[in-house]
Amino acid sequence: MIGFYHVYKQYVKESYAIYDINLSIEKGEFYFLTGASGAGKTTLLKLIYKEELPTKGQILIDSVNINLIPRKKLYKLRRKIGIVFQDFKLLYNRTVYENIAIPLVVRGYRKSYIDKMVKNSLSLVGLNHRKNYITSHISGGEQQRVAIARAIAGNPIIIIADEPTGNLDTELSIEILKIFEKINNNGITVLIATHDNNLIRMFSKKTIELKQGKLISSPTKEKQQWIY
Ligand SMILES: Nc1ncnc2c1ncn2[C@@H]1O[C@H](COP(=O)(O)OP(=O)(O)OP(=O)(O)O)[C@@H](O)[C@H]1O
Ligand SMILES: [Mg+2]
Repeated sequence: MIGFYHVYKQYVKESYAIYDINLSIEKGEFYFLTGASGAGKTTLLKLIYKEELPTKGQILIDSVNINLIPRKKLYKLRRKIGIVFQDFKLLYNRTVYENIAIPLVVRGYRKSYIDKMVKNSLSLVGLNHRKNYITSHISGGEQQRVAIARAIAGNPIIIIADEPTGNLDTELSIEILKIFEKINNNGITVLIATHDNNLIRMFSKKTIELKQGKLISSPTKEKQQWIY
């Protein structure tokens, strides 16, 4: 589902944010991505949804070499991936409903279909009762759940989240992780960047660890067969 083949990323000369990463995440797996600040976690996630381009190497998402996707077809990749940003990136003066519905409106779906998708995703995160609240009027933990509901609403096949529990206390963090487990139980591939080792210990999942852009531990072996 997600494959990296000798991937390098340089933002500036002489310095690598990502260095020779090889990894393979299969459909339906749940992975943590960990490492110290500056290790390259956010960069690795951005490479997956082509927010950043690799300096060298190939990235396969759902059997597609994303290097070869032209800009005008990029929406096809982005629709496969639900993204939960560390700072949520919500529209705080809009309602919870609108935050989830607007990306679906952009896709041109019918109102009745959008209503159903919003309802289903709010049920998943346990927030139907906040549907008509202005987003700035709900708590931080609830805002995080709205961000997850928005990511999942468009039926992605992959969910990636960058420090989704970064601003939350332990109890809320566990709640959020349980939501990701539920999402994963529906067959969606989940990749979560976190430097919270307690959380990683609590939820025994496969873990990819980065150190200064290099992969220092991963349970997967480099894939030998690549389809271009
Ligand atoms: N846009 C950019 N321009 C230049 N350098 C960058 C840029 N983004 C990231 N970097 C550098 O790339 C390296 C990896 O950064 P990245 O944000 O991926 O790390 P991270 O593991 O997500 O860190 P954190 O835990 O602090 O979020 C760092 O050295 C960082 O300074
Ligand atoms: Mg980061």
